[in-house]
Amino acid sequence: MPDPHRFVNELDEESHERLIGRLESRAKVPVFANLFDKYVEQIDLPSSARILEVGCGTGVILRNLVQRMNFSGSATGVDQCKAFIDAANKYAEQESITAELDFQVGDIHNLSFDDAVFDLVIAHTVISHVTEPVQVLAEMARVVRPGGIVAIFDGDYASLTYAYPDHGFGQKMDNALATTTFNNPRIMRDLPRLLPDMDLELKSAWGDAVVEIGDGSYFKTFAETYVPYVKNAGLFSEQTVKIWLNEQYRAMENGTFFAACNYYTYLVRKVSGPYPVPTASV
Ligand SMILES: C[S@@+](CC[C@H](N)C(=O)[O-])C[C@H]1O[C@@H](n2cnc3c(N)ncnc32)[C@H](O)[C@@H]1O
Repeated sequence: MPDPHRFVNELDEESHERLIGRLESRAKVPVFANLFDKYVEQIDLPSSARILEVGCGTGVILRNLVQRMNFSGSATGVDQCKAFIDAANKYAEQESITAELDFQVGDIHNLSFDDAVFDLVIAHTVISHVTEPVQVLAEMARVVRPGGIVAIFDGDYASLTYAYPDHGFGQKMDNALATTTFNNPRIMRDLPRLLPDMDLELKSAWGDAVVEIGDGSYFKTFAETYVPYVKNAGLFSEQTVKIWLNEQYRAMENGTFFAACNYYTYLVRKVSGPYPVPTASV
C-alpha cells in the first residue's frame, strides 16, 4: 500500500500517532522550518486575511501562521484524516488559538467552499501525496479570490537521496522510499505547465535543497517514519531495510551522515475566474 498520507484513513491508530509525531517534529526542525518562513515572508497579507490550508494535517502550519501576525482573520484547515483533525484541535487548544482556527475533515479534491472566498490558499507538502494533483490544484484555484495567492510547497522526492556505501543498493532504497511514501514524487516539476490552465499566474518560484551532512535530524525521522512502508510494500525484506537503517544510524553516530532532497516553492496569483476544472491528468 503506497503513500501513507494518501491512504491515511486505512492506517491503524499507532501509525496515526507516528505520523502525527512526525508532522509536529518536522515543522520544528530548523532546516525545514526555514523554508516555510522564507515563503510566508514574501506573502503580503492583511491581518484580516481569509486563509485556507488544504491537507493541513495536525495544523502546525496554520498555528505558526496565525501566531506570527496580529491576526484577526480566519484560518481554515481541511484534512481527510479525523485523527489528524482531532490532533489539530487539541494543539490549537493547548496554544489558546482556537478562536482564529477552524479545522474540518474533508477531501481536498472536492472542497465544500464557494468560489473565490479565500485570500490565500496553501498546500504545504500535500500535492506530492494526493490521488489527483490536477484536481486539487483546480480546487485551490477555484476557492481563491481573483488577485489572491496560492502557495504550493513540496519536495521533488525523485531527488531524495541518502548516502550508502554500496551505491547501487543505496539508489534502490532512495527510489523505494520515494515511491512508497509519495504518490507524485515528480509533481513539482510539472507545475509551470499545469498552473496557467487554471488561471494561476506565476508570481515567484524557487528551489531549495534540504541537506544534512554529519548529523541527521529531518532525514532521521523521515527514514524512521517511512522505512516501514518500504518493507510493507514488499520491495525489500525486513532484514535488508534494517541493515540500511542501521547504516544511517552508524553514520549519524560517526558524524559521516549525508542525505538531501530538493524542495520547490511556487507563489502564484489568481488572475480571474471562474474556469472549467481540467480533465487532463499529469
Ligand atoms: C505530509 S502531510 C502535510 C500536513 C501539513 N500540511 C504539514 O505540512 O504539516 C499531507 C497531508 O495531506 C492529507 N491529504 C492527502 N490527501 C488528501 C485528500 N484527498 N483530502 C484531504 N487531505 C488529504 C493527509 O491526510 C496529510 O495530512
